[in-house]
Amino acid sequence: MKRIMVTGGAGFIGSHFVKYQLDIYPNIQVVNFDKLTYAGNPDNLKGVDESRHTFVKGDIADAVAVRQAMDGCDAVVNFAAETHVDRSIAGASEFIDTDVRGVYNIVEAAKTLGTSRVLLVSTDEVYGSIAEGSFKESDPINPRNPYSASKAGGELIGRSYFHTFGLPVIITRGSNTYGSHQYPEKVLPLFATNAIDHLPLPLYKGGEHNVRDWLYVWDHCSGIDRALRHGEPGEVYNVAGGNERENIVLTRRILELCGRGEDLIKLVPDRPGHDKRYSIDASKLRALDWRPTMDWDEGVALTVRWYQEHESWWRPIKTGEYLEYYKRQYGASAK
Ligand code: NAD
Ligand code: DAU
Repeated sequence: MKRIMVTGGAGFIGSHFVKYQLDIYPNIQVVNFDKLTYAGNPDNLKGVDESRHTFVKGDIADAVAVRQAMDGCDAVVNFAAETHVDRSIAGASEFIDTDVRGVYNIVEAAKTLGTSRVLLVSTDEVYGSIAEGSFKESDPINPRNPYSASKAGGELIGRSYFHTFGLPVIITRGSNTYGSHQYPEKVLPLFATNAIDHLPLPLYKGGEHNVRDWLYVWDHCSGIDRALRHGEPGEVYNVAGGNERENIVLTRRILELCGRGEDLIKLVPDRPGHDKRYSIDASKLRALDWRPTMDWDEGVALTVRWYQEHESWWRPIKTGEYLEYYKRQYGASAK
């Protein structure tokens, strides 16, 4: 692969993936196509080798712009998405535009241009909740919130292009990802930055014992890269962290790392339809010689330290639109 298009490459995982490609493959060129929504941030790309990185501001819901940017690329990896479950509950229109229509534009452009690899980054949330055991790729999907439903819609469009047109589409389903540069609406950076500021941590009441499987961002990037280069077209690969933790356990760990007490925990009304537990089995990707390498305790400590040491990154975000969102989402209950 000489030139790859990465969509959503100014967001959290996408920006790490751009750096991953430029670090690991000295001759690769990356075309980074991103709309720069509230979650996209050019600061996430500071220091990348600009001679091998071309940034294009664009919307994957714009078919012409997608085709133009993809022309000349051997592969496309789609990270671009609306990604926050709570925002999808408040209103899902943009989720449909980007996570469904946008994916359609990507596979349609790839079909027209004859792109030799299309990797759609998806999520373990498409399986829905599981009480015991772990989902395998062969299990049926059962998305239960508007975000995961829109991601499943994009996946199905992609899979239909493999079956109908032979387009070499590969799908990855990753678990909850954590690391530096994550927008502070997601639980880990939200709780870490609030704890730094002695603000309440709005833990969903009734969801304290819900379980998420934590995957370090660089491990997620290496899993996607493995599937991209060694996966079979038409196949789905789970990318699991193997670190299932209850939300209360993560919350206590963040408080401990920030030197704060449990009095900062503020139980707020639960997320509607809050999925209890996500768990996926990654043995199919492991068979391609992929392993997550980050220890959970160490990864969370590294991540919280990053937020402690990079206030200049997140303080400007936690103003304006963010504060409006915060008020709408948590209201008086978070004070
Ligand atoms: P993010 O919200 O941090 O970033 C999304 C990026 O996509 C932003 O840069 C944004 O500007 C861009 N974008 C949004 N709409 C766009 C559009 N219409 N056109 C072009 N660019 C657009 O997201 P993230 O957490 O980095 O997630 C990246 C991908 O990984 C998503 O597809 C998500 O569903 C998937 N995923 C995320 C996780 C997780 O825990 N964060 C886990 C599994 C899978
Ligand atoms: O599982 C993969 C998914 O992980 C990705 O596909 C999504 O893009 C990503 O946002 C993430 O979804 P979650 O809903 O699991 O992440 P979030 O950080 O929003 O919430 C994690 C858990 O923490 C969840 O059980 C809800 C809880 N939570 C979250 C927030 C924002 C709280 O208790 N309080 C909060 O304020």
